[in-house]
Amino acid sequence: MLRIGMLTSGGDCQALNAAMRGVVKGVCTKRDDVEIYGFEDGYKGLIYGNFHMLTSKDFSGILTRGGTILGTSRQPFKLMRVPDKDGLDKVAAMKHTYHKLSLDCLVILGGNGTHKTANLLREEGLNVVTLPKTIDNDLWGTDMTFGFQSAVDIATDTIDRIHTTATSHSRVFIIEVMGHKVGHVTLHAGIAGGADVILLPEIPYDIDVVTDVIQKRAAADKKFTIIAVAEGAISKEDARLKKKEYKEKLAKRKYPSIAYELAEKIQQKTDKEVRITVPGHTQRGGSPCAYDRVFATRVGAAAAELILNQEYGYMIAMKNQKITKVPLQDVAGKLKMVDPQDGIIKEARTIGISFGDQ
Ligand code: F6P
Repeated sequence: MLRIGMLTSGGDCQALNAAMRGVVKGVCTKRDDVEIYGFEDGYKGLIYGNFHMLTSKDFSGILTRGGTILGTSRQPFKLMRVPDKDGLDKVAAMKHTYHKLSLDCLVILGGNGTHKTANLLREEGLNVVTLPKTIDNDLWGTDMTFGFQSAVDIATDTIDRIHTTATSHSRVFIIEVMGHKVGHVTLHAGIAGGADVILLPEIPYDIDVVTDVIQKRAAADKKFTIIAVAEGAISKEDARLKKKEYKEKLAKRKYPSIAYELAEKIQQKTDKEVRITVPGHTQRGGSPCAYDRVFATRVGAAAAELILNQEYGYMIAMKNQKITKVPLQDVAGKLKMVDPQDGIIKEARTIGISFGDQ
């Protein structure tokens, strides 16, 4: 008997179901003695022993379905070693559930925080295989995460729709794209949507540079300016603060988010009307795009191979267009940020996109 535990953890994204389907189809094609334990709402299910048994049939017809059939939740890594409100040792509880069910391995689908806990479970002696999910595409060790391309498509569609209304009005439009720590989605959607200014956490901006772009466009008879801003974009002034000072400043910020702060500053410094669009969680919703369906299926199938070969302790990744595996200890705790020196940034600058920095 092959007993596989499976969970999805952290913020959801498109293609989680497609990836799980890939794993189960891959395993069940080779073995007919498989038991699948689906843990509910991420690590919470593993901690408290909440699971349901699934068969390969449960994974049929879910290739195109958004969300996750298992549910998910955020269980911060930093609290994993802290007992819960009833004094329960969460790590011991997860190990207990794993051993009680005599699992052969855990398949864990998640992003950065999830991978830190997955690695912790590996260190604790559990057999773990992980899959790279997150719209943010900020997992170290893989060129791509599933969810990313779908989110880029949605954010791009938002910018496209803004473009048509923008051509009718002399306004500045700000579209706030998901990504608190990294700007991959904003960068790609910004370029794909033809944004004039792209503001990322990795490239601190100067508000005077941003307003200068707006004024120059107006002087060149361009009626509107479109700004794609990542949730975590930061000004040069704020980037000079210590992490703690910046956190305190953010906690006191009177604006709901960065787009509102920018809008007020732009309105103060120019005579332009500003409008804000925040697509928010729509970027994680709906069906995965074709790319994500293919990618999630490939990483799911690769995970199935590892399980069948009893090779554990890896995240399935994509490097240089090839599906590969990366040791979990190499992935855990590292962020893949946008590199300000990357070719894509240079190319964007070449065609006149401003990153608000120079
Ligand atoms: O990590 C994925 C992500 O969608 C980020 O881009 C975003 O900042 C965050 O999650 C939102 O988290 P939540 O769904 O918990 O509000």
